Amino acid sequence: MADPENNQSNSVETAINTTEAHFKSAAECLISQPLPSCTIVIFGASGDLTSRKLIPALFNLFINRSLPKTFSIVGCSRSEMTHETFRVNMNSACSGLKCSPGDWDRFAENLFYVPVQYDSNESFTNLATFLTDLDRKKDTRGNRMFYLAIPPTLYPGVSQMIGQAGLAIENQSENGWARIVVEKPFGRNLATALELDRILHSNFKEHQIFRIDHYLAKETVQNILMLRFANAIFEPIWKRNYIDYVGIIAAETLGVEHRAGYYEQAGVLRDMFQNHMKQLLALTAMEPPSIFQADRVRDEKAKVFRSLRPFTKGTVRENLILGQYGAGEVDGKKVPAYRAEPGVAKDSTTPTFGLMRLFVDNWRWHGVPFYLASGKRLKAKDTRIVIQFKEVPHSLFRELLGDSIIANRLNLGIYPEEKISLTFQTKSPGARVCLRSVTMDFNYHQNYSGPQLDAYEKVLLDCILGDHMLFWRQDGVELAWSFLEPVLDECEACGGMEDILQNYPSGSWGPDSAHEWMRLILGEC
Ligand code: BG6
Repeated sequence: MADPENNQSNSVETAINTTEAHFKSAAECLISQPLPSCTIVIFGASGDLTSRKLIPALFNLFINRSLPKTFSIVGCSRSEMTHETFRVNMNSACSGLKCSPGDWDRFAENLFYVPVQYDSNESFTNLATFLTDLDRKKDTRGNRMFYLAIPPTLYPGVSQMIGQAGLAIENQSENGWARIVVEKPFGRNLATALELDRILHSNFKEHQIFRIDHYLAKETVQNILMLRFANAIFEPIWKRNYIDYVGIIAAETLGVEHRAGYYEQAGVLRDMFQNHMKQLLALTAMEPPSIFQADRVRDEKAKVFRSLRPFTKGTVRENLILGQYGAGEVDGKKVPAYRAEPGVAKDSTTPTFGLMRLFVDNWRWHGVPFYLASGKRLKAKDTRIVIQFKEVPHSLFRELLGDSIIANRLNLGIYPEEKISLTFQTKSPGARVCLRSVTMDFNYHQNYSGPQLDAYEKVLLDCILGDHMLFWRQDGVELAWSFLEPVLDECEACGGMEDILQNYPSGSWGPDSAHEWMRLILGEC
């Protein structure tokens, strides 16, 4: 007979075992190999990205003892500034971070500043001399990361200058490295992406180039592959036989903020669809690689991009909804229309919302629609992937419950809820047969108390380690542009955008015509 007391003690024991296992694995998750000494050179040091993301990320890594023992960070930009002023500016950028007394001073000793005119050979020669001296003083062995936190129009010129100053050469005898980090957008179409790549390759080899997509560094995005390929239960049903459709959404409440200069040229298709949305799609749709290595994983992603059913002139409009936000209310605050934002043209036809239905033409996904949605000034910030399973093939409950039983749904939450939840049907307690939908949840941070890395911390660390797993490879960039170009051509052809673009009030779920598909993704709308 079951002994309730005994059962209880068993379950306590189980809980303790799980906790111990958890602590062991938390320790195992820390980087164990020593990190190579290096210098991180940031171009665009007086800009927003440096103060908002890069320096706070580096400081956090320092606080968590995750930077190399010896390192230097050299900020470069056009402004004249002393090392001390740069340190003071960066200190205020990090003021919100939790640290112990003395942490900042110890970190700031490694911060330097060199003014650089981006089109001046002399500036880069001075920088090279400064870096060589610094290497000698700090024994950083010529290992250098060049982070281009500058407008993309400056990438070609600055990478050329780095090369001409001899800074792209790797110190072969000491296993040294020189790496260049670029942020999207990688070009604004296929031709410009190819040109950018040609210029980068005139000084750097592919293994030296790191193309960032910060979505890939989000923990919950990385977890998609673990969920799919470290469990035996999902993969057998991860296909057209069982899946009705897939929804991928990255909805934002923010507007264009102070980025109109960039966004007016990009719009939602170049800003989100060309990169972040494609990566989420690839991780959801790809085949298992034979081994978890950067190039094997990126090979499989490239195959997904190659399998996308191309849009033709006739099919763009039936599979794409574009919108632009009007005035409205977000989180209880009145907000202006996109066209009334500073720096935006009064007659702008830049789309701030996109909803695309696409198909992956291969054996696994034949006929399964993928709905990709992203937009600014929407009702809520919500980033997730939805796997909607098919209904049961035959309902034996039909006489009691009618024909339709709510189908299972797997939600991979990326933001704000970093969780996985599976919805399924159970019997409601009681004498009558009634079904209810229940949800089984796993919160990503549940039972984990170890250090956590934000996306920029992760990419900076991986770049120091030379790990390309979370970065775009050039073939992927080109394939993604090849897919998007016919869409851009159709929309941007004379008058095309005026025809397609629909207005939506800020704080809604996009244009009215999008609501049916949005409901598929969100479950409500
Ligand atoms: C950036 C886009 O890459 O991603 C922005 O340029 C967008 O327009 C941002 O707001 C969204 O990132 P996240 O991490 O907040 O979802």
